[in-house]
Amino acid sequence: MKRTHTCNALTAADVGSDVRLIGWIDSLRDHGGIQFIDLRDREGLTQVIVDPTNAAYSGQIDRLRPESVVEIHGRVCARAEADINSKLPTGGIEVHAENLVIHNISETPPFPLEDEKAWKVNEDLRLQYRYLDLRRPAMYRTLRMRSEAAKATRDYLAENGFLEIETPYLFKSTPEGAREFLVPSRLNPGKFYALAQSPQQYKQMLMVAGVERYYQMARCFRDEDLRADRQPEFTQIDIEMSFIDREDMYALVEGLLARMWKDVLGVEIPRPFPRMAYHDAMNRYGVDKPDTRFDLEIVDLGELFAQSDFKVFRGVLDSGGVVKAFNAKGLADATQGEMRDLENAAKSLGAKGLAFIRVSAEGEWKSPILKFFSEAEVAALKERLAIEPGDLVFFAAAEWERACSILGRIRLDAARLLQQRGRLSIPTDRYNFLWVIDFPLMIFEEAEGRYVAAHHPFTAPVEEDADLLESNPKAVRGQHYDCVLNGSEIAGGSIRIHQPALQRKVFEEVLKIPADVVEERFGYMLRSFKYGAPPHGGIAFGFDRIVSILAGRPMIRDVIAFPKTQKGQDLMADGPTAVTARQLRDVHMQSLPIDA
Ligand code: AMO
Ligand code: AMP
Repeated sequence: MKRTHTCNALTAADVGSDVRLIGWIDSLRDHGGIQFIDLRDREGLTQVIVDPTNAAYSGQIDRLRPESVVEIHGRVCARAEADINSKLPTGGIEVHAENLVIHNISETPPFPLEDEKAWKVNEDLRLQYRYLDLRRPAMYRTLRMRSEAAKATRDYLAENGFLEIETPYLFKSTPEGAREFLVPSRLNPGKFYALAQSPQQYKQMLMVAGVERYYQMARCFRDEDLRADRQPEFTQIDIEMSFIDREDMYALVEGLLARMWKDVLGVEIPRPFPRMAYHDAMNRYGVDKPDTRFDLEIVDLGELFAQSDFKVFRGVLDSGGVVKAFNAKGLADATQGEMRDLENAAKSLGAKGLAFIRVSAEGEWKSPILKFFSEAEVAALKERLAIEPGDLVFFAAAEWERACSILGRIRLDAARLLQQRGRLSIPTDRYNFLWVIDFPLMIFEEAEGRYVAAHHPFTAPVEEDADLLESNPKAVRGQHYDCVLNGSEIAGGSIRIHQPALQRKVFEEVLKIPADVVEERFGYMLRSFKYGAPPHGGIAFGFDRIVSILAGRPMIRDVIAFPKTQKGQDLMADGPTAVTARQLRDVHMQSLPIDA
């Protein structure tokens, strides 16, 4: 090896030894001709003193630039008492260079690589020069955490009898879930593969094959609109097991997450995780992935307004909808602009309006709807929502799911505004794990006029609800579970259907997929179930999301070495690109004008 030590290794105990270090010039300071170099590698920093009178390398000194790669041969010396830097592990020593080899002279980087400055740099520039961005200590730290989390996962699953098995990325198109990436087949003119959205069907086939316990760190590909927590290709910890029920799965997953938190952060997480039914999550938090680190809970006001004279609320209640509200405690000083943004957010979710009551510091209620309320209603509201001076209460009247979602969104926005004002603290080192369970198996899709699977069509109904599949599909609960952490859905899975007749019934009679389409897409699966399919179930974790929470980063892009932008572009290599007519011809394709 070219080096004897890393840049984070030398201490007072090494004083007097001859060492070889190699790394990047983090900084270069001229102290009256003597050059002080902070030499950096992925482990840390060491101060090196370069003496311009040393003939071995004096001719080279002018060529040194920050981010150049240099090799230093030298002697470890103790620093003078006044120069000791107690913040660095190597802060008690410095290396006096006896020789110096320059391996690469760096041009000036396009942005500063100091962490505090780099986080403020335009992300596109960081992505274009990702190799420099990743050279920063904070980015290296997230890469290392990601690797440690993957190792903890592999260790834990191997100890529990799981086999790591790879499954194909080139799968066939099954346009039921997210939009797929299509890949033309050169050898099969006019035919396409789809990149697997997840290994779902393969892992079920592995259960039919008798593997019993499978896992994979699987790449998944979804051509979705991207957000802070979504990438077109992302990584799942994908798991499937035979001969289990939901309780077995909860125990396994809780053990895995506990292991990860212990190995990566040294943190013990309390188990078992709390559980919350989907209905409760929607009613109290307005979302199926509640952030329970803060309250601001939503309250149902159906009873209170059942006989109200306020037509907007009464009308919604009479037609089967709900009236709900929550108290954004202490937000009465929200500005006009903030109120407008909140109202627009509500409207984007289909709200007709976002009624509110603002209570001044002196206790005066101001609201466009106050005039419609009776004294008794005002008193009841005050009690139900614990309204005090300085509060801001929001109302939504709509059908149940819509009203819940509107307030769920406003609750998160209000929490952000309260945080900005220092009135609410949401600790990032608090880990509120939660199981959300008892999801409906099916949801009615208005646009399509039919039911669609809430999770995916392989999810088994809760046994005691199975009889309702035909008569009342929306009352059937699925054996589906989501694991939620601090408001982020980090995993989802289910116990599967393993009887061919039930699976066919779900496809054909409940989801109304025509029999020939079922045969074409899922025929092989239904056939496999006729040959001794074991009861089985599984789950998949969004590994990028987990690592972003472990690393305390707000976006999954920060914990992926080479992520894509919101537009799905790779700014470093500059993809996607056009291809030649020849390349297209090879795969039996032809380009249409872009706007066709
Ligand atoms: P699901 O679609 O819920 O389930 O995905 C599982 C988990 O993967 C993460 N995830 C994503 N992460 C980053 N970018 C994306 N575009 C993205 N989409 C999903 C989420 C999610 O909880 N086959 C089933 C699992 C099963 O039933 O076993 C599946 O893929 O954290
Ligand atoms: P309107 O009678 O339509 O002027 O509404 C009176 C107030 O109620 C306004 O502040 C609206 O924003 C609000 N509002 C109207 N419809 C709803 C609704 N469905 N949910 C909550 N607030 C509403």
